[in-house]
Amino acid sequence: KILILDFGSQYTQLIARRVRELNVYCEIHPYNHFPQPDESVRGVILSGSPYSVRDAQAPQADLSAIKGRLPMLGVCYGAQYLSQQFGGEVRPSATREYGRAILSKVVANNPLIAGLSDRTQVWMSHGDTIVKIPENYRIIASTDTVPVAAFQIEGEQTWGIQFHPEVYHSTEGKQLLKHFVVDICGCRQQWTPDSFIESTVRELRDKIKGDKVLLGLSGGVDSSVAAELLHKAVGDQLVCIFVDMGLLRKDEFESVLKSYESMGLNVIGVRAGDKFLADLAGVTDPEKKRKIIGRDFIEVFDAEAQKLTDVKWLAQGTIYPDVIESISVNGPSATIKSHHNVGGLPEKMNLKIVEPLRLLFKDEVRRVGRQLNVPADILGRHPFPGPGLGIRILGEVTAEKVRILQEADKIFIDGLKESGLYDQVWQAGVMLLPVQSVGVMGDERTYENCVALRAVTSTDGMTADWVHLPYDFLAKVSNDIINRVKGINRVVYDISSKPPATIEWE
Ligand code: XMP
Repeated sequence: KILILDFGSQYTQLIARRVRELNVYCEIHPYNHFPQPDESVRGVILSGSPYSVRDAQAPQADLSAIKGRLPMLGVCYGAQYLSQQFGGEVRPSATREYGRAILSKVVANNPLIAGLSDRTQVWMSHGDTIVKIPENYRIIASTDTVPVAAFQIEGEQTWGIQFHPEVYHSTEGKQLLKHFVVDICGCRQQWTPDSFIESTVRELRDKIKGDKVLLGLSGGVDSSVAAELLHKAVGDQLVCIFVDMGLLRKDEFESVLKSYESMGLNVIGVRAGDKFLADLAGVTDPEKKRKIIGRDFIEVFDAEAQKLTDVKWLAQGTIYPDVIESISVNGPSATIKSHHNVGGLPEKMNLKIVEPLRLLFKDEVRRVGRQLNVPADILGRHPFPGPGLGIRILGEVTAEKVRILQEADKIFIDGLKESGLYDQVWQAGVMLLPVQSVGVMGDERTYENCVALRAVTSTDGMTADWVHLPYDFLAKVSNDIINRVKGINRVVYDISSKPPATIEWE
């Protein structure tokens, strides 16, 4: 495997994903908690960083155990660090060095770049530049403005590159990473969904043995794939609980439950909508609503779990970005998914935690799911917030408002699917606004609700842009909602990006 030493760059995860796309396993570790590499480690990549190596508080890593012993590739800050620490010099760049640049080889046959085209496009993003390299370093490629765009240390399997091979706009970036991890480090390209499933199933069996495992299903990709993987490993020792908070999409509880049953899972479906609605009565503050929904979820889940006997394990659908975030250089940041953590249950029932997907990125979870025959409608499903429609009904939540929103949402989502637009959108939904406005239907004046349609593109929900849905499509959806959903006489489309807006309205 490859270890990635993280100096805090926004691109570190992208490096890991690119390496994994080469079917080579890699792990990210913070620069200040780097493990002693064992014999399974074939090479190390040093990431970029938001810091300058000249900053007093710049991240410092002790490379003595690895440099010169294992192949190493420094990217951006990583390259500058390798220069500055060993006698080179790094200064602020005289010209802006962001975006496109053309890389020219200085040494044609260097194994890192030999296979690339002669003038290949690379992507730069740095405020500092290496002005002097140490004596025993050799420049292997330059750009018009950056003489030291790539170097190798003589007699050592250590390279530095100033550009970012991991980003899409470095046209042959993946090829360069392949030269490093496959040709230079000698990693075999065997990290595939099949191999992951095989080894994980084996590990799960060894770990869980004959014990019973409990898992909370949400209808989303992660918990569903985790369930299928565990089911393959331990069969009916896996018991799943799927809670209906009454705040799911229309008919979703029934249809997802059916999918789970068809997957052969042992699922307990709990209908608890009334409890949630009763507890939400009169509450308008968004954060209070979230807390109530979270607390109720835990109560319902716990009560159901307590009925089971002999459970020893609690399985969770934690994925790699959650793991990285919790150990990250910048420290754990506030997590928005906290309500899915099933509270104090592990202590109360004395449960051990098992997280079969904790090494996978989202796209890998989908690939594994496909291999496990998890139904396509589950794998391709848009993200959906834990508190469900509860935070898409602005203000107080009532049964009538849930009904109205479910109807409108179904028309929008079905419309996206029928028009082939669903897969081009990262997340979509409808918000029921606390606004009534005047309309006219037939000869009658109406005074009814307004809904906002929301559809965004994103990769991780951190930033998002609204989707330019075709006017004809919006016109049809608007028409269908107003004509068919009693209680709505106006539809608007949300054209705000995140930031400064958020995806949800509450
Ligand atoms: P925002 O609205 O912050 O949402 O732009 C970003 C992503 O997170 C989802 N979201 C939540 N998910 N519990 C969740 O599990 C929550 O309380 C919550 N709030 C927002 C949202 O749907 C989007 O995908």
